[in-house]
Amino acid sequence: FMPGMDLQHEILRLKKEKNAIILSHYYQRPEIQEVADHVGDSLALSQAAAQTDADIIVFAGVYFMAETAKILNPTKKVLLPDLNAGCSLADSCPIADFEPFVKAHPEHFVVTYINCSAEIKALSDYVCTSSNALQVISDIPETAPIIFAPDKNLGNYLIGKTGRDMLLWEGSCLVHEAFCIDKLLDLCKEHPDAMIIAHPESEEHILRTASFIGSTSGMITYVKRHPNKKYIVATEVGILHEMQKEVPDTILLPAPVVEDNSCACSECAFMKSNTLLKTYRCLRDETPEIEVSRAIAEKAWVPIERMLKLSK
Ligand code: 13P
Ligand code: SF4
Repeated sequence: FMPGMDLQHEILRLKKEKNAIILSHYYQRPEIQEVADHVGDSLALSQAAAQTDADIIVFAGVYFMAETAKILNPTKKVLLPDLNAGCSLADSCPIADFEPFVKAHPEHFVVTYINCSAEIKALSDYVCTSSNALQVISDIPETAPIIFAPDKNLGNYLIGKTGRDMLLWEGSCLVHEAFCIDKLLDLCKEHPDAMIIAHPESEEHILRTASFIGSTSGMITYVKRHPNKKYIVATEVGILHEMQKEVPDTILLPAPVVEDNSCACSECAFMKSNTLLKTYRCLRDETPEIEVSRAIAEKAWVPIERMLKLSK
């Protein structure tokens, strides 16, 4: 990297030269979203990864997302700008604990949220995202019991929606559990014209206040279709970049968090560990590369593919 070099320009040039694409989640830094070929939620990015004919996929997101892209594209090079971009939710479900749990409930269908490791996916009947979880569950015989992992908040939400017999894993996302209900209610008093929208990884007391609950892309679609002067948005703050572009005249307020931090809003440090400079270097040097063992990838592919078929 040379001082004064226009990183975004160089990234665009390298993408063309190497037949590479950049997939970016909505929680990525705005300057990364701006150089991406697709910006989307976990489902849309998996679909884009499944369909691409690029030789290289740079996944501007977190590890489990890049790993899923690799499982869908075993012969392609999948790169992640920072290998430390993990996920607290995926970490809350270690294989050493999950495997005996699944074995102890052989009659249960295993549905895992995409925010988990490839090893966990390999033990699953279905993978789902917050966009298609209801659709996936409705594919399972009505009386069959279900294990849902790793997110207990999304799981509880799904039990409420479907009334299904579900055994929940006790995992959660630090970022979505950081919202403060008292501060949120105060903010509502200050802005009585604001509507709350929330991601289902948030806790039940937060979800109860929301007019709409959905995935990141679901939330963006919702604000587009329901013009309102103000929205309070309970998910990672990075989503505001794309959302604001879609509804430029709407005031978007991030939901407040318990601990005061630099932005007084909920930021995912894992998502933010990718920077434009790391994205440039990753594309230039074609590293760090994601590898998944063949044995695990073949098993994990089955429930991911099942999800993609159901989501067409
Ligand atoms: P979606 O973008 O699929 O709603 O999920 C967000 C997420 O959990 C990434 O942390
Ligand atoms: Fe994981 Fe939560 Fe960050 Fe999403 S916001 S990547 S679930 S830690």
